[in-house]
Amino acid sequence: MSTNFVKVAETKDIQSSNMRPIDLDGERVGIVNVDRSYYAIGNICTHLGGSLNEGKLEGYDVECPWHGSKFDVRTGEPTTPPAQQPVPAYEVKVEENSILVRKHE
Ligand code: FES
Repeated sequence: MSTNFVKVAETKDIQSSNMRPIDLDGERVGIVNVDRSYYAIGNICTHLGGSLNEGKLEGYDVECPWHGSKFDVRTGEPTTPPAQQPVPAYEVKVEENSILVRKHE
């Protein structure tokens, strides 16, 4: 049975309070480390397309570098406008030192 989990990085590749962009079959996804818990959300801001990994990560919020929208990295939901729409959120699991992300169907 396919679970659609794909290895995207090693845990050592992503320092705490950092977000690293990866390509998941053409989808641009940011992998986030908050106190050694890992999250994955779409890397492209739903406002006008800023790259979220180039923004500031504070706690669970990442701030778009373009106009300051913030998104919760746990859910992809916007917490500060102007963005209104969520970015996609992906399930993540860690096996030994590998970070795996579940692809959307
Ligand atoms: S593009 Fe992200 S806030 Fe405008």
